[in-house]
Amino acid sequence: MEIKRVMVIGAGQMGGGIAQVCAQAGFDVLLNDMNQDALDKGMKRIEKLLTRAVDKERINESDKTDTLNRLSKSSQLQDAHNCDLVIEAVVENMDVKEKVFGELDNIVPKHAILASNTSSLPITEIAAATKRPDQVIGMHFMNPVPVMKLVEIIRGLQTSDETYNVIKEMTDKLSKVPVEVEDFPGFVANRILMPMINEAIYTVYEGVSSVEDVDTVMKLGMNHPMGPLTLADFIGLDTCLYIMEVLYEGFGDSKYRPCPLLRKYVKAGWLGKKSGRGFYQY
Ligand code: CAA
Ligand code: NAD
Repeated sequence: MEIKRVMVIGAGQMGGGIAQVCAQAGFDVLLNDMNQDALDKGMKRIEKLLTRAVDKERINESDKTDTLNRLSKSSQLQDAHNCDLVIEAVVENMDVKEKVFGELDNIVPKHAILASNTSSLPITEIAAATKRPDQVIGMHFMNPVPVMKLVEIIRGLQTSDETYNVIKEMTDKLSKVPVEVEDFPGFVANRILMPMINEAIYTVYEGVSSVEDVDTVMKLGMNHPMGPLTLADFIGLDTCLYIMEVLYEGFGDSKYRPCPLLRKYVKAGWLGKKSGRGFYQY
């Protein structure tokens, strides 16, 4: 099966990046969002990043124009009727994802593959919302998508070898490095990363050190490109909390309990960089 036309659902920080790299790799891409403002902002951001790439002489002006010509906006899931692949990147919430996959299953062609960019939710459960669980797979990109090389490919219980091979090949075409992962809470990336971020939040919560100092320790002491609290703000504190909840519930182990300070910030609407306030102010 050859993938030509792709829909990316969710024009937030991940969906926008995924749409950009797919269009740059030559695929026709529909970027979908239920929120018109998010869709407009997502497209503007892609344009800005492509302009920057031209300025840096990584691509030329005609590459930029060609990429933009391969991208279109969509505000209805129905537009996926002639897509070969849909990559979902909406909020990290099972009810929302199940609803999206259930609807998509009735819209896309029989051969189409449905992929989720979920950070932690079980692919097997998302797949069960469809009648094509063999054609459902996890395609977990890292943030910022245009920069980060890794894609975790997660096989659900019923994902077929054919689906896996098509997605692995697609990942290669995007110039990303695929790593195959089993369907367990948090997969590999977030099973390791998110407890570190949660522990950094506990370190502040317990008064051991300040936000800035925790970040400095990890940046200068461990050579991390961003401190864990800057990274939490960058990922989105709502997403961090959802992932910790998935780990906590999925393993039933108290070592994964989300820090109360994280819950408090999310309840206050302090979601990090995207809302203007998290551990830092933007
Ligand atoms: N979108 C696109 N490109 C971006 C970007 C963004 N949000 N942020 C930075 N970049 C680009 C910049 O344009 C720049 O490119 P140029 O070479 O064209 O200048 C390049 O990245 C480097 O950026 P900067 O020089 O401004 O800053 P930096 O050297 O500190 O790098 C960074 C920025 C790449 C984000 C770096 O800080 C980093 O690697 N941070 C850690 C990121 C990380 O851990 N990501 C994983 C998050 S976890 C996840 O994604 C999984 C999940 O499920 C939550
Ligand atoms: P975000 O909040 O930036 O964007 C989500 C977008 O989805 C919003 O624009 C919203 O309007 C849209 N949306 C919500 N429900 C929708 C629906 N039913 N139909 C169409 N659009 C809808 O979120 P994000 O950070 O881009 O995360 C998206 C997904 O990617 C989540 O599953 C998250 O766990 C995963 N992820 C996030 C990161 C990260 O660092 N933020 C990294 C890897 C994976």
